[in-house]
Amino acid sequence: MKIACVGGGPAGLYFAISMKLRDPAHEIEIFERNAPGVTFGWGVVFSDLTVDNITRNDPVSAEVITREFAHWDDIDVHFRGETITSGGHGFIGIGRKRLLEILQNRARELGVVLHFDAECDPADPKWRDYDLVIASDGINSRFRDSQPEAFGTDVDVRGNRFVWLGTSKVFDAFTFAFEETEHGWLWAHAYRFAPDCSTFIVECSEQTWHEFGFDRMSQDEGIAACEKLFAKYLDGHRLQSNASHLVGSAAWLNFRRIKCERWSSGNVILLGDAAHTAHFSIGSGTKLALEDAIKLADVLNRKGLSLEAALNEYQAERSLEVLKLQNSARNSTEWFETLERYTHFEPLQFAYSLLTRSQRISHENLRLRDREWLETVERWFWKRATEGRSNKSAPPMFAPLKLREMEVENRVTVSPMAMYSAVEGTPNDFHFVHYGERAIGGAGLLFTEMTCVSPEGRISPGCTGMWNADHVTAWKRIVDFVHANSKAKICLQLGHSGGKGSTKLGWEGNDVPLDDGNWPVMAASDVPWSPANQVPAPMNRADMDKVRDEFVTAVRMGIEAGFDMIELHAAHGYLLSGFITPLQNKRTDDYGGSLENRLRYPLEVFAAMRAAWPSDRPMSVRISATDWAGEDGITPEEAVTIGEAFAREGADLIDVSAGQTWGGQQPVYGRMFQTPFSDRIRNEGRLATMAVGNIYEPDHANSILAAGRADLVALARPHLVDPFWTLRAAAQLDYRDVAVPPQYLNGMSQLARNLKREAEMAAALRV
Ligand SMILES: Cc1cc2nc3c(=O)[nH]c(=O)nc-3n(C[C@H](O)[C@H](O)[C@H](O)COP(=O)(O)OP(=O)(O)OC[C@H]3O[C@@H](n4cnc5c(N)ncnc54)[C@H](O)[C@@H]3O)c2cc1C
Ligand SMILES: Cc1cc2nc3c(=O)[nH]c(=O)nc-3n(C[C@H](O)[C@H](O)[C@H](O)COP(=O)(O)O)c2cc1C
Repeated sequence: MKIACVGGGPAGLYFAISMKLRDPAHEIEIFERNAPGVTFGWGVVFSDLTVDNITRNDPVSAEVITREFAHWDDIDVHFRGETITSGGHGFIGIGRKRLLEILQNRARELGVVLHFDAECDPADPKWRDYDLVIASDGINSRFRDSQPEAFGTDVDVRGNRFVWLGTSKVFDAFTFAFEETEHGWLWAHAYRFAPDCSTFIVECSEQTWHEFGFDRMSQDEGIAACEKLFAKYLDGHRLQSNASHLVGSAAWLNFRRIKCERWSSGNVILLGDAAHTAHFSIGSGTKLALEDAIKLADVLNRKGLSLEAALNEYQAERSLEVLKLQNSARNSTEWFETLERYTHFEPLQFAYSLLTRSQRISHENLRLRDREWLETVERWFWKRATEGRSNKSAPPMFAPLKLREMEVENRVTVSPMAMYSAVEGTPNDFHFVHYGERAIGGAGLLFTEMTCVSPEGRISPGCTGMWNADHVTAWKRIVDFVHANSKAKICLQLGHSGGKGSTKLGWEGNDVPLDDGNWPVMAASDVPWSPANQVPAPMNRADMDKVRDEFVTAVRMGIEAGFDMIELHAAHGYLLSGFITPLQNKRTDDYGGSLENRLRYPLEVFAAMRAAWPSDRPMSVRISATDWAGEDGITPEEAVTIGEAFAREGADLIDVSAGQTWGGQQPVYGRMFQTPFSDRIRNEGRLATMAVGNIYEPDHANSILAAGRADLVALARPHLVDPFWTLRAAAQLDYRDVAVPPQYLNGMSQLARNLKREAEMAAALRV
């Protein structure tokens, strides 16, 4: 094949090498706009896995590259005058210029023709003479941008500014240095990539960048300002730029996240940064470029594979890998963009939060990297959780939490889950076993299902209620069992279904109206949940008074039944949530319009409940932190305001759920997918929060808690099939101080032994 590679970066060079290795008959030319030896950037980091891949692909160039690698293990986080060092991270790096030199030499050796000072224009007719044109022309690819429709290009320009500098100061560890100035925070990502040289990337928010005056400085002035700011880390060494083609403030870039729906069009194929980018803070761009190149060369040389099939396979496989990295990169990018959310953390927790920011590194991962450091974090966590009573090194999920005078034994909670099994609102033996079993299963806190304050406030005929004496008796039996047989605390979730009421049992169809026997429903406005549901009657003031008083009566009954805590359900599109979301609330009175107005009634209900509930016992409120409707609905930013408003009325915990507030929601699912909302409310609003939503492993729970993203973690579906989730987690983590029912002690120690043996065998096999 006759092939042109536009761009002689890692992608273009390594593709040319990989093609020639597979078939020396290919005629390959590389066109690079720069002169030889001229390039942007300084060092790049790799992982061991990338090294394995390039060694398998071309042992010759890999041998030269690995010989020149700089290795380092530690990460140093400098924050508020402290240096937090954690080890075991295992980085390898090389200068970008040197990497390109090695690849250029190897390409020449294999017969690739290299043209330098060769600016390429996609409109040039000469590209038609090639079988394939590889657009390896980087993040600002002209070839990609000349046909945005054909490639389905999506560009996301991120908020922070960064400048890629170098220095002769040699950093022994991968260094993050954070400095607070009167204009906000600036920080450096620095690492050694040669015996005498380090990369030094300076980053800050757009606002800080302007206020600091970088937009008005020449490149030299900007560098001088950075040298002054980071002087204590540079030990007299200078910072340098090699972006001489960029004038003044232009050297400071906003990262551009590129995604393309299609990676080829006609004879043009996108490769490396031209096809996709991953934020520099996870250091994977070069790895992706090299691995793209290997895969593309593989499929193009596979006998019997048509060009179309080859390109399909190239994109299908590589885009999966890219998606994973781009997701991690997005988390990491957002962490740095919202840095000021975490600057009130103590340095140790700040460093933990930084290390786990992309969600690729978890609590147990950190233990494998540096056990001693992780144990320091755990001791710190326990010390804070127990107000100094204990500083043991143990998983954060088992640390207690005090809310008012209630102390929960550990931080795992059974999230509220409707069982649709009550008759006339009365819980029965099913509920007794269901809640009893989950209490002895080890969770620190149990939430009841949404328990309705009136018959009309039920979602379905099977919902539990709290409006008559039978309900109190039945709930008291459950609460008494929980208290007598476990250390768990139990919280009564109270709610009213509003416009989502009068529907079938959960397993008969979600939100589907009853076949017969429907009762009239009311809501903030006459907006039906779906065309199939009733049009609710908009509530007048008398309705509002009545429902508020029903909530208060239910609270009083909750006291009689002995509950430890009350939660107001103001999420998921039910009555109070329907007031909060603009997608359901169309009122024009004092209870509609602005967020302040829409919150007025839910807050009134909450305040009335709080006044009736003992002041030494805590209350929480469940909210939907987003309507998953963009700016048309509740946004995560507004969720902070909502959390703060309830906290002012005496809420001790915000239970941060999301969505289910309208039919057209577009949720983005994934592991721990709602935790970012909890993180935001907790750390911007400085409120205690509970995270929920696809948290299913002990490692998730520990990572969330230690990183300060929530104070409690709630698991719903995992508890449906495994009431003993917490005890199993304790056995898995070899944590002995958990409350095990004495009747089950034997089983617990056997499980712990077996899991330990299995883990040892797995570790031995890995070695
Ligand atoms: C601040 C920063 C730090 C980074 N740190 C790391 C890191 O630690 N580890 C890592 O793996 N990655 C890192 N990256 C990303 C990495 O630089 C890129 O992902 C990688 O270079 C992609 O390789 P590429 O060959 O696709 O593109 P590039 O390396 O950008 O190469 C494209 C080449 O095409 C040439 N070119 C462009 N247009 C034309 C044209 N019209 N005609 C002729 N030639 C053209 C350019 O001159 C360039 O040489 C970082 C990026 C930034 C911005
Ligand atoms: C069967 C079932 C019933 C639920 N009922 C309620 C409920 O009554 N009140 C509530 O606030 N959330 C309810 N939820 C939502 C859960 O509390 C939780 O927020 C959601 O399932 C996400 O957590 P998970 O991924 O751990 O399941 C219910 C979830 C399930 C699966």
